[in-house]
Amino acid sequence: MTSETIPLGGSRFEVNGEVLVGLPSGAAWWPATRTLIVADMHFEKGSSFARRGSLLPPFDTSATLSRLEADVAALAPARVISLGDAFHDPFGPERLEPGARARLAALQSGREWLWIDGNHDAATVAEIGGERASEAAIGALVFRHEPAPGDTLAAIGELAGHLHPAARVRVASGSVRRHCFATDGRRAILPAYGSLAGGLDLAAPAFAGLFAAERLVAHLLGDARVHAMPARAIVGFGISRDGTGRRRASR
Ligand SMILES: [Fe+2]
Repeated sequence: MTSETIPLGGSRFEVNGEVLVGLPSGAAWWPATRTLIVADMHFEKGSSFARRGSLLPPFDTSATLSRLEADVAALAPARVISLGDAFHDPFGPERLEPGARARLAALQSGREWLWIDGNHDAATVAEIGGERASEAAIGALVFRHEPAPGDTLAAIGELAGHLHPAARVRVASGSVRRHCFATDGRRAILPAYGSLAGGLDLAAPAFAGLFAAERLVAHLLGDARVHAMPARAIVGFGISRDGTGRRRASR
């Protein structure tokens, strides 16, 4: 793939030999199979908080659907895979308003749609169309919600979510923090796609051991394009003196 064919300001990376493109929206595009992959949409997070008495703006599902509609319109995927936590809680699908339900049905029409189970959502996602699985292997890739532990064969070819990666990187004027794709060529963890979903710094202990530090690249979501940054540019994620590990994230 040449840079001219990378769509929508995306950033190219490989996982287990498969070419993927991280998009500014937070979705990943797998051109060889025309598959669009999104993680952690957390639909109905606003209404989930409202049920517990704390008010968030209730527009999150619509905003996330708009983002997904734009990606689907631009790329016409043959298949969409949600990597889990599509809904913020197991009752999210039944709270989905008719308008949002219709928009989701329109997105699902004419293509394969696979919901991978998350830890926030559950069996209820299949009630709104599409197939459901705890994980799935397609070609050289494996799709699951929570990343497998670091030094296992299960990590090879994995696309996962759950951790909502973000990174702060040094720039000429100081530093910026953005949600990001994180990959070392063996596996990739996708940023959260949901409009209200937060991010967790790659230097956090939750990421310890998941990546070969010397090969880690963070693909940061910019407004119009994705920026690939090596591990040495990530604040708090330095390569150790022997070049094999992390200073802080391995604690
Ligand atoms: Fe999760």
